[in-house]
Amino acid sequence: MLPVTADLVLRNVALPTGRRADVVIAGGIVRHIGAPVRADETLDCSRYTCLPGAVDMHVHMRGGAQAEKEDWRTGTMSAVAGGVTVVVDQPNTVPPLTTPALLRARIYEAEEQAVCGFAVNASVVPGADLAGMRDAGAMAFGETFAAPSSYGEGLDPETLRGLFSCIHALGGLATIHAEEVRGPAPATLADHDRTRSGAGEARAVRGVSDLAPEGLRLHFCHLSTAASIGAARGTVEVTPHHLFLSYEMFEDDDTRARVNPPLRDEETRRGLWSRWDAIDVVASDHAPHTLREKALPFEIAPSGIPGVETMVPLLMAAVREGRITLASVIEKTSWRPAAILGIPRAGFEPGDRADYAFYPDEITRIDASCLHAKCGWSPFEGFAAVFPEEVIVRGTRAYAQGDFRETHPAWYPGQGYLSSKN
Ligand code: NCD
Repeated sequence: MLPVTADLVLRNVALPTGRRADVVIAGGIVRHIGAPVRADETLDCSRYTCLPGAVDMHVHMRGGAQAEKEDWRTGTMSAVAGGVTVVVDQPNTVPPLTTPALLRARIYEAEEQAVCGFAVNASVVPGADLAGMRDAGAMAFGETFAAPSSYGEGLDPETLRGLFSCIHALGGLATIHAEEVRGPAPATLADHDRTRSGAGEARAVRGVSDLAPEGLRLHFCHLSTAASIGAARGTVEVTPHHLFLSYEMFEDDDTRARVNPPLRDEETRRGLWSRWDAIDVVASDHAPHTLREKALPFEIAPSGIPGVETMVPLLMAAVREGRITLASVIEKTSWRPAAILGIPRAGFEPGDRADYAFYPDEITRIDASCLHAKCGWSPFEGFAAVFPEEVIVRGTRAYAQGDFRETHPAWYPGQGYLSSKN
């Protein structure tokens, strides 16, 4: 039945089918597509391309002891200003999320500060209370460090096997950071690429795929080469930095481009685009570090780059340039990650989550001084991008023409949370 009044009506929305219609929203969900009803607020969308809000399933919101780098407020403001309406936080916090109490404290911190939807993953290390965190609402398990990275030690194959069988028994999703690390600390970006080679990443992905129990749901984080995508048994994620950046674009000792897995050479970067159709998810691996930390000598500078705000804008510029389809961007940034995680879909059918971002036609250039992340820099400075002008979170206008209007820190618990309550 049609609601008599709605919270918000989005007028003249271009639907993926090409049809234009009004989207009637009440209580944070789509009630009806078609004839308008009376509403508290209406928004004319005729000059925009409408995307379902992105679900960025790989972010490091920092906060707590690392609030100098980022916190839930600035990190989620950055997300919303980039068309991301749900973020999934990784558990390599300080301390790592290994108990239900730590997980609950993290969720509480997010509820206090976040301006968009969020979920929190559980840390996968020996001794972690995986079942307790599943019941406390962890979204997924990991990123599981099959190689060392910032604030996470690599796990050996036997340890991984044991932890995977626990996750399997819990019916969970295991998310994996798979790499192979060889040789001394790198002094340049090219060294970094050799130390954590693309071939080694593909071997690590194959090794993890082989040792995981049959039936365990695996998700491979931030794969950086076409060969790694081919080696994966499970869903695959790539980042905007591996799609848009190569180490050849930077001075060899530029620590801001230091990230795990490393940026590759131009040929490998193009090879990654050649597998675009095989990529399930694009996620940012938003991993901010301060410029002070990045000013350390290359050998000891932290790995990780910010990117939650620039992810969809970079992809939208590629759409405008005719390099990829809008449908593929919707699929990889919103619908696939939501389906993998079991988060209700944002979209254009009655009952869908009413999260959207509205993009103008014009392409602009990325200017880090206009971004909202606390670290204040971006490796994508000057890149072509299309930023959203309006963002709707749970049926209300969260962001309009550069201003934040309302905050919507909805927590999305993992599926184990609900089953443990039945
Ligand atoms: C991440 C971080 O800084 O937390 N760094 C990175 O280089 N990707 C950790 C990670 O995702 O491996």
